[in-house]
Amino acid sequence: MHPMDSPLQIEVTTTDRPVSHDRLAAILESPGFGQHFTDHMFLAEWTPERGWHDARVTPYAPLSLDPATAVLHYAQEIFEGLKAYRHEDGSVWTFRPEENAARMTRSSRRLALPVLPVEDFVASVDALVRVDERWVPEQAGEKSLYLRPFMFGSEAFLGVRPARHVTYLVIASPAGAYFANGVQPVSIWLSEEYTRAGRGGMGAAKTGGNYASSLVAQQEATEQGCDQVVFLDSAEGRYVEELGGMNLYFVQDDGTVVTPETSGTILEGITRSSIIELCGKLGHAVEERPVSIDEWRQGVGSGRITEVFACGTAAVVTPVGRLRWGGGEVGDDTTGPVTGEVRTALVDLQYGRAEDTFGWMHRVL
Ligand code: PLP
Ligand code: COI
Repeated sequence: MHPMDSPLQIEVTTTDRPVSHDRLAAILESPGFGQHFTDHMFLAEWTPERGWHDARVTPYAPLSLDPATAVLHYAQEIFEGLKAYRHEDGSVWTFRPEENAARMTRSSRRLALPVLPVEDFVASVDALVRVDERWVPEQAGEKSLYLRPFMFGSEAFLGVRPARHVTYLVIASPAGAYFANGVQPVSIWLSEEYTRAGRGGMGAAKTGGNYASSLVAQQEATEQGCDQVVFLDSAEGRYVEELGGMNLYFVQDDGTVVTPETSGTILEGITRSSIIELCGKLGHAVEERPVSIDEWRQGVGSGRITEVFACGTAAVVTPVGRLRWGGGEVGDDTTGPVTGEVRTALVDLQYGRAEDTFGWMHRVL
C-alpha cells in the first residue's frame, strides 16, 4: 500500500497542435466507433517501490515500447469502457464511473496487476474529459465520448511473472452507434466450436485475451452474414453466456425479463446490472438464471420469448433480430416494445432527459 499516493497528483501538459475546429466538426458529425482519438491522453506508472506515480495528461502520442515489454508476450492487460454524455445545458457527465473502477479492481486481481484506487480511476477519467471537453459531442444522434482506461505490464522482461512496471492510460474517442446500421436489429451467430471462458478462467475479467480468443468466432459470424457471435458455457455447451462484447437479455410473453446469471465466466456488464434496476422501476419482473440455447431457440419459435436484446456501453441496448446456427435460424428481425422501453429509459437518464433517481450520473463539467 502507498496511501500517500492517493489521490494522485495529476500534471497537465496541453498540446500546442490541437485538431482544427473544422476537422473536429467533421469528426463529430459522423464519429463512427473507435476511429478518432482526442488531443490528449492520461498516463500513470506503477512500481512496487513507488506505487502509482507520474500521473499526467499529455498530448496524445504513440507509446515507445521495448520489444521485450511483458504485455506483448504474456498479455498482462486489462481495460474498461465508459462514456461521457453532454446534457442539454452543456454540462458533461459520466455514467457510474465508480462501477467501472470497481470492475477494473476485480480485473486487476485476476491479472495480477496493481489496484488503482477508485477515486484515482474517476479522477483520471475526469481529468482527460476536462482537457478534451470540446471532443464531447452534442447529444443529437446519441453521440458521446467513449473513454477507454487500460493498464498493462510494461516491464521489459521475458520471465513469466507479474510485471514490476505497470502503465495505466486513458484515451478517448467520440462515438456514434457501435453497429454500422445504427439501432437496427442485429443478427447473432451461435459459436459451437469456440468458447470464451471456463471455470477458473478469465471470463469475468475485462482483459484483452478474452477478446483475442473471440476474434476467430466473430470472423465466423461475419462469414455467416451475422453481426455478432454468442458463446455458450464451456462445460456443457448448453447455456447462453454472452456476446463477444455485450450481455444478453430475453423478454418473455408474461413481461418477465431474463438475463443469464453471472457465475464467473461472463463479464458483469454495468449496463446489464443497471437494466436489472431499471426494469424493476418499469414494473418488469427480472430473473437472473441459466438460459439454455434450446430455451432461446424454442422460445422464439413458440412465442414464449417475445424479444431478445444485447446491452453494453458501446452497444447501449441493441435489439437482436435473429439467431443463426449451423443448420437453422429463428427470429423475425424486428424490435420489440420492451427493448425500446428499456433503451429509452437508459439513454434518457444518461443524457439528462429523465431524472436520475438512482444517483448514477457523475458530473465532470
Ligand atoms: N460483455 C463483454 C464481453 C463486453 O466486452 C462488454 C462491454 O464492455 C459487456 C459485456 C457489457 O459491459 P458494460 O455494460 O459494462 O459495458
Ligand atoms: C464496451 O462496450 O465498452 C466494450 O468494451 C465492448 C467492445 C465491443 C467495444
